[in-house]
Amino acid sequence: MSDSFEKVATHYGLAGIEERILSALQDEGIDIDALTPRDLSPIDQFHTRGILATREHAALAAPREDMHVLDVGCGIGGPARYLASTYGCRVTGVDLTPEFIAVAKMLTERCRLDHFVDFQQANGLDLPFDDSSFDMVWCQNVTMNIEDKAAFYREIARVLKSGGRFTSTEMTTGDAGPPHFPLPWARVPEISFLASQDEMRAALEGAGFTIIEWRDTSAEVVAATQSPIQKARHAKLGIALIAGDDTPERVANSGRSLAEGRLSNVMMVAEK
Ligand SMILES: C[S@@+](CC[C@H](N)C(=O)[O-])C[C@H]1O[C@@H](n2cnc3c(N)ncnc32)[C@H](O)[C@@H]1O
Repeated sequence: MSDSFEKVATHYGLAGIEERILSALQDEGIDIDALTPRDLSPIDQFHTRGILATREHAALAAPREDMHVLDVGCGIGGPARYLASTYGCRVTGVDLTPEFIAVAKMLTERCRLDHFVDFQQANGLDLPFDDSSFDMVWCQNVTMNIEDKAAFYREIARVLKSGGRFTSTEMTTGDAGPPHFPLPWARVPEISFLASQDEMRAALEGAGFTIIEWRDTSAEVVAATQSPIQKARHAKLGIALIAGDDTPERVANSGRSLAEGRLSNVMMVAEK
């Protein structure tokens, strides 16, 4: 792994995530041998607005039962399990961070979804799949850690079947200067590679995609980061279990940066 990717994986890969999650679930009286995606949703949706954003994003992308979906930068597998259990599609998740892949597999087995959903450690810029392998590629809050977006989109286009869809929710730059650090995806600017929405569009079109949906979701994200429901995401059963004890500060910086116009957020669908 090159230096920059190693730094990204180190940023995310905390020790002991599995033990922390299982013990927090047990403390809440949840049976860890019969887990459901719903039990895990406060913990396993590692992006702004959590399960709300995943539901909205999935409704826009509309996966079908006969599809094989690739989730690039799948984290601990929450969105992948949601897609498989809600839409009946097959999902393969890849992520740079080995600790996340181990937890994704463990939780998926405990949800008895492993016949629908599988995971492997891989870099989104060098996917271990043949050309034209997938009907849809899904990506949520990942490109902030990827410097060469043009190469990333070309790699996604390679593994996607002709007519297949790439769908992504991402943080993008704002007009009001740099964001406040530390942030959920980077404690320091060195591993944060934000692009403007215009740059993202140009990189996608340059990789051969036709953009069919482009929603600037910044206002919804700002409203959500100020809502009590979203604040509860950082309670005991929340993403701090996978993102670390400094999560509240990092999430607050993300909300503040969005509110000040230092970040923006987009949800999009493009076709190959
Ligand atoms: C904010 S988390 C989002 C996880 C998941 N998509 C979700 O929404 O729950 C960002 C994820 O992107 C992964 N990631 C960052 N750069 C990557 C790369 N080059 N290839 C694959 N995964 C990457 C990280 O390891 C991390 O799991």
